[in-house]
Amino acid sequence: MKLNKRLLSGLCIALPLLATSVDALAAKVTLKLAHNLDQSHVVHQALAQMAKEVQEKSNGELKIRIYPSGQMGGPRETIELLQNDALDMTKASASEMESFVKEFSVFSAPYLFDNEEHFKKVLFGNVGKSITDKTQKNGFTVEASYVAGTRSFYAKKAINSPADMKGLKIRVVSTPTTNKLIELLGGSPAPIPFGEVYTALQQGVIDGAENNIPSYNQTRHVEVAKFYIEDQHTSVPDYLIISNKALAKLDDNQRQILAEAAKNSEVFQQKLWDEEVAKSRQEALNVGATFIQVDKQPFRDALKPLYDDFAKDPDLGKIIEEIKAESK
Ligand code: GCU
Repeated sequence: MKLNKRLLSGLCIALPLLATSVDALAAKVTLKLAHNLDQSHVVHQALAQMAKEVQEKSNGELKIRIYPSGQMGGPRETIELLQNDALDMTKASASEMESFVKEFSVFSAPYLFDNEEHFKKVLFGNVGKSITDKTQKNGFTVEASYVAGTRSFYAKKAINSPADMKGLKIRVVSTPTTNKLIELLGGSPAPIPFGEVYTALQQGVIDGAENNIPSYNQTRHVEVAKFYIEDQHTSVPDYLIISNKALAKLDDNQRQILAEAAKNSEVFQQKLWDEEVAKSRQEALNVGATFIQVDKQPFRDALKPLYDDFAKDPDLGKIIEEIKAESK
């Protein structure tokens, strides 16, 4: 009893001391974040906003330094840097995540979502989380998910139906799913990094590519591929990822500040997105783009066999069904 009392009073003195000393020791951390988008892109703006919030809320103890525009390479390179502990954070699209976690491939399933609401319900709901949770075995964590509208084809010549795509070389973020998507439409897929697409189009190495309107405009691909075909075949989100080694460098408070700021950046980015699509469309029109409204049904029909492939893999087939169930 005596001992307990002494122990207790000892602890009363020691614990607060310990707490203050841990506090005082809270290490200053600067996280390096690299991505391949332009600084005017809404995902960059959302990341910049997050960095600002993190710095303010941690009183400068936690900082995020952003390296935009592919300074450290494309997602393949930055994810590799992250896995080798040479980089802390990066941004990758679902297609780029597919080689680590196969479940991300479901976002390349054509015409899977009824509308934006259905897509957001999946991305930010339980199905989305069940997919992002799977990156733990690869040593990184998804901190935020960002909408990226719909991807459509753009080319040097007009395309009005899948028949017009026969023989065309189309750049894709190369995965088994995206490659097959192009092949089913009669084209041939070209695995060219994002930052090299402009030159490839200009030199005629490829005939076209596919992306959302902001990326089509901000990369200036519009200057060398004037026809944007609004077939809207896929909705492929972007993700902010952090290595688990970097997370381990943070204390609980810093980790929480980062998680909150990342969640807030999701909301901020969604708010900016629709406005950005309208603005980019106008800018593309101003430099001579032609937007073609196509009948999507022939594209839908031609791409149906992709669903047979998904159904063959029970894990993927299950997620596709779960996603469809979210549309009700
Ligand atoms: C979009 C997407 C990027 C992706 C790029 C690409 O811009 O937001 O994450 O890297 O497409 O096609 O490579």
